[in-house]
Amino acid sequence: MGKYYITTPIYYPSDNLHIGHAYTTVVADALARYHRQIGDEVRFLTGTDEHGQKIQRRAEAAGISPQEYVDRIVANIRDLWLRFKISNDDFIRTTEARHEEAVQKIFERLYQQGDIYKSEYEGWYCTPCEAFWMERQLQEGNKCPDCGRDVELVKEESYFFKLSKYADRLMKYIDEHPEFIQPISRKNEMINNFLKPGLEDLCVSRTTFDWGIKVPFDPKHVVYVWLDALSNYITALGYPEETELFRKFWPAELHLVGKEIVRFHTIIWPIILMALDLPLPKQVFGHGWVVLEGGKMSKSKGNVIDPVILIEKYGLDAIRYYLLREIPFGADGFYSEEALISRINQDLANDLGNLLHRSLSMIEKFNGGVIPSPGSYQDLDRQLIKQAEESVAELRSAMEKLEVNQGLVAIFKVVSRANKYIDEAAPWALAKQPDQKERLGTVLYAMAETLRLAAALLEPFLVETPTKIREQLGIGSQESGMSYSESVKWGGLKPGVQTKKGLPIFPRIEEEKPAVESGAAKRPEPKKEEPKQAETKSEQISIEEFAKIDLRVAKVLAAEKVEGSDKLLKLRISIAGVERQIVAGIAQHYSDEQMVGKEIVVVANLKPAKLRGLLSEGMLLAASNDEGKLAVIRPETEIGEGAKVK
Ligand code: MSP
Repeated sequence: MGKYYITTPIYYPSDNLHIGHAYTTVVADALARYHRQIGDEVRFLTGTDEHGQKIQRRAEAAGISPQEYVDRIVANIRDLWLRFKISNDDFIRTTEARHEEAVQKIFERLYQQGDIYKSEYEGWYCTPCEAFWMERQLQEGNKCPDCGRDVELVKEESYFFKLSKYADRLMKYIDEHPEFIQPISRKNEMINNFLKPGLEDLCVSRTTFDWGIKVPFDPKHVVYVWLDALSNYITALGYPEETELFRKFWPAELHLVGKEIVRFHTIIWPIILMALDLPLPKQVFGHGWVVLEGGKMSKSKGNVIDPVILIEKYGLDAIRYYLLREIPFGADGFYSEEALISRINQDLANDLGNLLHRSLSMIEKFNGGVIPSPGSYQDLDRQLIKQAEESVAELRSAMEKLEVNQGLVAIFKVVSRANKYIDEAAPWALAKQPDQKERLGTVLYAMAETLRLAAALLEPFLVETPTKIREQLGIGSQESGMSYSESVKWGGLKPGVQTKKGLPIFPRIEEEKPAVESGAAKRPEPKKEEPKQAETKSEQISIEEFAKIDLRVAKVLAAEKVEGSDKLLKLRISIAGVERQIVAGIAQHYSDEQMVGKEIVVVANLKPAKLRGLLSEGMLLAASNDEGKLAVIRPETEIGEGAKVK
């Protein structure tokens, strides 16, 4: 157990923060929650970066004071983090007195010790990025190398910070601390592109606008934004006062930043800290961008995705899961709504949601809804337990490397294993054999225990789902008071608890595309040149390809004709204790009464589709010939729902 100080960058006040902005904060939140969970004392800081010419211009355009302008926008940003259930311990605004006064003291100290001096500045300035560039760094046509927009040549009296004086010391530090800049590719970029060519002193004050912190001894100057902004990481702890917070939490364990601002955090910031005689943060991690087809999401490109709309449409945990799972470690990741829907349907609905729903259905059906006591474990159970232990270990190692997406991969390994375990252990078959009662208890217990464990492991990532899982398992209170190592150890679930099966926690999202006529009666009109069906001249597939199709015996519980269609029957079926609905084009061949009570064969892992607006979760198998005759495929003798067809 240690302490863990983690920060996000402080955000520019922007009216519509997009899903890319949310990425930094959601990742930081997952890390902060993980460290709290494992028992570290965590301090998680975020905030807003409110000064600068751009804000002043926008406020002028809106006809209000810059302070009014930022107050309004910052309220929206705080609201966005509340919606994301971000667990920050502090929120710093650079317009707060605690920050402004501290920055003035920092500036004064650096000036007095000769690290800041007055001179004249001539350089290329990008207003939107608030960055100065050297002529040789510009893109063709005097464009900003970061955002590609026009830069202005500015000349003014300015204060400068002696970056050059500390360059060698920084180079040595980076060399000796390979963990300082991560991922490693960004470290090489900093060394080769910025440190090796040599550092120029940095302009740290401006006189052409006044929306900033005044230089205390020369108030026509305001502090140039990066010195102001970067200092937030220590002013929020009370620096330069020797506060308890500062003593406890500085240096930070991690500054998590987007890759485009790694340069400021690994060159300017450490040099400021060196000049102040303070230790450097343990690590600056530059994550990749969330990009759309056509490049980085940005307001100026008009291609932003609004996180609030996504949360409202799909739910908070689905969005958090998608962001944390989809963007690979340190690299860029594409955003698309299709990918989001497919993550929700595959991982959250099919894997996790389904595991919960079918486990509780079976515990209800076969044990009166009470968690049974496990008997002795067999090999099959031991394999599941081993996977659970491996998932815990893999999660830990992924989080240590900040590979949050791999952390989720590790957790979902045990979730998938548990689904497979159910298929293999076949509790519905055990339930039919009175001498298998103890075995059935062991299997049902293992299913519920995997869910309890998955809920514990998911805690840092998803903020609503773990509670929902525990509520359905009926164990809300059991978990509190457990240490992390206790809660992720197999066997923590106490038998005898009454479960409370609820609604599916992640209903499948139906893609809004034209309903696909699937189902048995969908027979394409044979084209003239097509071979006759009897010739069976189709492409060959491997056994592995065939194995992807999950064919199951299902029992038809109810059937009715679909209103307005003479072909479709709506069937309520049960597969291994879990009910679902399928819509099949067999109404011209079978009546509803004929189908009820029958065992049929169903493709159980077919993507759900809508037929006539009705959800169809699977497809029954039927044979049809050229004369238009159709016969539903049925097991030759009754075998029991859930049985695999191979
Ligand atoms: N104010 C500066 C940071 C000062 S820190 C001392 C700033 N603010 S920002 O609002 O532009 O960006 C905040 C965070 O959002 C940054 O980490 C940035 O990388 C991140 N993102 C903005 N767009 C992004 C994507 N499209 N994808 C991922 N992260 C992105 O920079």
